[in-house]
Amino acid sequence: MSETSYDATTEPDDTGSGASGIMAPGPLRTDVAVVGAGLTGVVTAQLLAEGGANVVVLDAGTARSTTTARSTGKLSVLQGTRLARIARHGDDVVRDYLAAGFAGLGWLRRTMEDLNVPVENRDDLTVATTPEQVADVDAVLATCARQGLAAQWEEDPPYPARSLGAVRLPGQAQVDPLRMLSALRARLRSRGVPVHDGVRVRQVRRLRNGVALRTTRGTVLADRVVLATGVPPGREGGLFLRLEAGRSLLTTWEVPDRTALPPGFAETMSITAGSPVRSLRMAGGLLMVGGEGFVVGRERDPARRLAVLDEWARVHLPVDTPHHAWAAQDYTSDTGLPLVGPAVPGDERVLVATGYAKWGLTNGAAAGLALAGRILGDPVEWGPTLEPWARPPTPSARIAATFGEQSTGWACAVARPSGQRPGVTRVSRICPHMGGVVRWNDQEQSWDCPVHGSRFGPDGTLLEGPATEGLARR
Ligand SMILES: Cc1cc2nc3c(=O)[nH]c(=O)nc-3n(C[C@H](O)[C@H](O)[C@H](O)COP(=O)(O)OP(=O)(O)OC[C@H]3O[C@@H](n4cnc5c(N)ncnc54)[C@H](O)[C@@H]3O)c2cc1C
Ligand code: FES
Repeated sequence: MSETSYDATTEPDDTGSGASGIMAPGPLRTDVAVVGAGLTGVVTAQLLAEGGANVVVLDAGTARSTTTARSTGKLSVLQGTRLARIARHGDDVVRDYLAAGFAGLGWLRRTMEDLNVPVENRDDLTVATTPEQVADVDAVLATCARQGLAAQWEEDPPYPARSLGAVRLPGQAQVDPLRMLSALRARLRSRGVPVHDGVRVRQVRRLRNGVALRTTRGTVLADRVVLATGVPPGREGGLFLRLEAGRSLLTTWEVPDRTALPPGFAETMSITAGSPVRSLRMAGGLLMVGGEGFVVGRERDPARRLAVLDEWARVHLPVDTPHHAWAAQDYTSDTGLPLVGPAVPGDERVLVATGYAKWGLTNGAAAGLALAGRILGDPVEWGPTLEPWARPPTPSARIAATFGEQSTGWACAVARPSGQRPGVTRVSRICPHMGGVVRWNDQEQSWDCPVHGSRFGPDGTLLEGPATEGLARR
């Protein structure tokens, strides 16, 4: 895929204010500090400001570097086979999860209409491509039926590759996620809520009457803090033990002859019910193709994954020239549900929202509604179901896999304790978060930690994940 530009990491964009001159001398004081200006953070901040709270938003990057902006842009409550997987917690939990999803979707639709950001109606398909996936799709259909959703089985869905049928849920939508996020950020700023880009929170310290945030640009004192950062920074609440960092690839393609697509394809969005995951939708004149997910730092050959996706697109779709390719990262929790609420049980000073499992657009907006309602004293009905400590954590399998990675990494690190890429500084291979051994990702030109998913640039600069410092330079 040589002609495709691979968008590796964070790049500047024109939607943020930059960090210059934002922190006055001495600590900045506020009612609520929202850390993270992706969708979750900006929705929370907007609702808090509307409720009369004094809010400050801090972000380590810019709009363009968020997972939100780099997502597929599907606004759906169907979400592949996720409903069937959540059903193992009981139908009441699915009911609340759906109520959250519909609340998020409804809020986004109304707000985007206000902001003149186009939201296109689409039917969402979960497609079975193997007999095993037919069983999974049946489970989705049964879950939808129990919840009264108008989902239907379709023998011959408008899917361009071989399929054995699909579930179709009408009334879902798609959006340009960067445009959506930029419009929300612009509105926040126009209403006087500061959104400080380029400010990383390095430490969260609880005080008797609030919280102190140590950031790269000074200290922020707040009564309450919302960590809308994907995985929370550092070791906050021990939640990094309950989350797995997954990366997926996205590509866009030009389609010279749209009549070669199956009739009705452009009016749908789709995702396969299992491996290999293929997520498709039309985005303007381009065809978006996603898939080939992997756990951060545990894929030995990420470039091969892009080649596989590329080849699949060329074989199954009437595509010609690849337009763009990139990767993005999101977190899946041990319970399979989002974790939205206190980081530590019973402590309302620090709230988190994470664990969306690559479905955090409807869920991120829902989390904003839940967190703002909680802080303003007007909680949402379905909120308790999504609280991080609503059910016993089950991180054991994850910890075992992580331990395996860490042991293998250390064995390698003894032989090769630092790494160097041509023309850049030699860096330690030991992750400053908790001592994982980073692996070079040739595709994205980054050092990736297989333990909890922190990522670093070639010179050790911190890009994302729970780490709060870069790799040590040698
Ligand atoms: C490939 C891919 C495709 C996806 N497609 C879809 C889709 O079609 N539909 C859907 O519903 N979901 C999708 N998702 C999931 C969705 O994009 C995410 O769940 C959602 O955007 C998360 O939003 P967020 O606001 O929580 O996090 P983000 O958008 O990542 O924002 C978090 C922000 O926190 C900042 N931050 C992190 N640490 C710190 C710190 N220490 N100090 C200061 N700031 C910090 C970061 O800079 C970042 O800007 C997809 C995910 C992936 C990976
Ligand atoms: S991200 Fe936790 S050890 Fe690297």
